Amino acid sequence: MKKPVGRTGALVMLGLIVFGASARAEDSPAVEAMHLGEGEGRIVDPELAVPSENYREEWVFLGAFSVLADEPEEGAKEMHAVYAEQEAVRAYLDAGSFPDGAKIVKDVFETETAYLTTGTASYARELAGRFVMVKDSQNTKADQSPLWGHGWGWAFYEGTETRHTITTDYESDCLGCHQPAQETDYLYTQGYPLLAR
Ligand code: HEC
Repeated sequence: MKKPVGRTGALVMLGLIVFGASARAEDSPAVEAMHLGEGEGRIVDPELAVPSENYREEWVFLGAFSVLADEPEEGAKEMHAVYAEQEAVRAYLDAGSFPDGAKIVKDVFETETAYLTTGTASYARELAGRFVMVKDSQNTKADQSPLWGHGWGWAFYEGTETRHTITTDYESDCLGCHQPAQETDYLYTQGYPLLAR
């Protein structure tokens, strides 16, 4: 968005170029909501941490969402990239749901938009933060932690942080926005071609 191109209505192409630098995340609606919990002491829950392995290289890339800027010619203001482990994806394809312990990671990137040879293209730049969900179908942890319930563990990490979440309560920080996806186990599966059965 730093270099908007003046081609109204041009197609936004999705180029996912991954740069792992840290960044602020004030532009993200999801991240704005998260800021409500800031300063209340950050929870560390190893089960909900950002994976220590290189998930971008080793996990399955499920799909991407581009969140458009208010002005069409500015392209996408955010790119979201979603990953899950291969065994978890295989289990999903067999059973139609993720097995307990399955971890899903969503990268939120700030973007750049430029006129490339394909057209107006927005692509990922700095990492604004990461969302993590972990399957817990029986809600075994719901009594013990405000980050677990409705069949999942839920946490958001700012920038390149991997362990200290700013999420304090999934019901206020996450659930409202995931309610529309309740019928697909709170996941926006329409964005993941591989999971279409
Ligand atoms: C402002 C609304 C909003 C908030 C708040 C929000 N989400 Fe989401 N989330 C979405 C939407 C919409 C998608 C899919 C589309 C996208 O990414 O733009 C999504 C996708 C995800 C994904 C990818 C898997 C999926 O569900 O399709 C994860 C993981 C995720 N969110 C975790 C969380 C967690 C954890 C929280 C709370 C800490 C949270 N989200 C808060 C709206 C929200």
